[in-house]
Amino acid sequence: MKKSVRRAVIAGNWKMNNTPSQAKALIEEMKPLVAGADCDVVLCVPFIDIPVAIEATKGTNIKIGAENVHFKASGAYTGEVSADMLKEAGVEYVVIGHSERRQYFGETDQTVNLRTIAAVNAGLKAIVCVGETLEQRELGYTETLLKYQTKMALTNISAEQLKNIIIAYEPVWAIGTGVTATADQADEGNGFVRAAIAEKYGADVAETVTVQYGGSMNPKNADELVEKVNVDGGLIGGASLKAPDFAAIVKAASK
Ligand code: 13P
Repeated sequence: MKKSVRRAVIAGNWKMNNTPSQAKALIEEMKPLVAGADCDVVLCVPFIDIPVAIEATKGTNIKIGAENVHFKASGAYTGEVSADMLKEAGVEYVVIGHSERRQYFGETDQTVNLRTIAAVNAGLKAIVCVGETLEQRELGYTETLLKYQTKMALTNISAEQLKNIIIAYEPVWAIGTGVTATADQADEGNGFVRAAIAEKYGADVAETVTVQYGGSMNPKNADELVEKVNVDGGLIGGASLKAPDFAAIVKAASK
């Protein structure tokens, strides 16, 4: 990554794992292991775990994120959580448009954009996920799709608001499969995202945006992934559920 202009961000995405008591235990185990990190460390946790996670990370270098946010400020949206609710709870980051939300919960590029606007307007940092399926890759649509998803997510977002947005390139075929993109594939995908940002906001602005890689990132492959110029850290699923593995990835991004 370009350490001169961008700081790496390693974010865990716990998905639907860990009850509040398990969350507390895992964070207590992680705290000393990541205390010396020279990168930003974030844990995105289920809504129900947020209070315990905020409490357990007080005074530490671990920031807490949510895994989704609704785009309306309030109202009759049963089961949903607003950006203001997250903000008041002490949440700093929120994952938006994860491929699992796109695949299982009807998330579209339009709703990803609306959630992103709601998040940044409330003072949260958005981690917006983009990524192609294996079929799309094999048909040769990777660049087109990543640029399209990136630009759609950033509709009506100003350059000023962009400062609070991270894009995570997560190839769908690499998520939870144990199949990691090669470092070159990750760098290329992240490069397509950065190119889309440059087309919309100019190259100088694009150089400042954090673009993470996500998809089966683990202690074994983290070094070579984060060495790539376009890979500014990672969004970590499975390996964020094990303190030593997550800490090893944080260490790789701190070099
Ligand atoms: P895995 O690291 O388990 O492949 O998950 C990646 C991911 O989806 C992070 O958001």
